[in-house]
Amino acid sequence: MAVGVDLLEIDRLERALARRPRLAERLFTEGERAYAAGRGRPGQHLAARFCAKEAVAKALGLRVWSFRDVEVLGGDGPPRVRLHGAAAARAAELGVEVHVSLTHTRRDAAAVAILA
Ligand SMILES: CC(C)(COP(=O)(O)OP(=O)(O)OC[C@H]1O[C@@H](n2cnc3c(N)ncnc32)[C@H](O)[C@@H]1OP(=O)(O)O)[C@@H](O)C(=O)NCCC(=O)NCCS
Repeated sequence: MAVGVDLLEIDRLERALARRPRLAERLFTEGERAYAAGRGRPGQHLAARFCAKEAVAKALGLRVWSFRDVEVLGGDGPPRVRLHGAAAARAAELGVEVHVSLTHTRRDAAAVAILA
């Protein structure tokens, strides 16, 4: 059993994405970008997903990994996680499943990850 948590000011991510056009593709899968793009303020949902990725990396103790190794699926209803690459390998090694919970206010987004 392990946990991870992360918190982010939404406008920090929005500014970074505005400055670096290719950043969104490096951080987020196509499905994550499509989900956020369909919402009123995409940055809010992207920031929560960014936090989920960091929280999962903390819980798994990952050092070398890609943000796209942790994919958040769904959104209307409890989010689920699909792992790829280094994250998938580490979870298999530990024999754990990864669960996340997301939240956001107008200012901040946060996520917690649990390995069970
Ligand atoms: C859905 C619910 C958890 C959202 O809570 P909130 O305080 O409004 O919003 P938060 O910012 O804390 O959480 C939003 C995140 O919760 C997640 N979420 C959505 N539905 C969820 C659910 N049923 N269970 C767990 N997490 C959920 C999503 O990942 C969402 O992030 P996203 O918008 O970036 O995809 C809340 O409305 C609730 O308790 N619903 C349960 C009952 C229900 O479905 N009511 C609607 C009946 S009409």
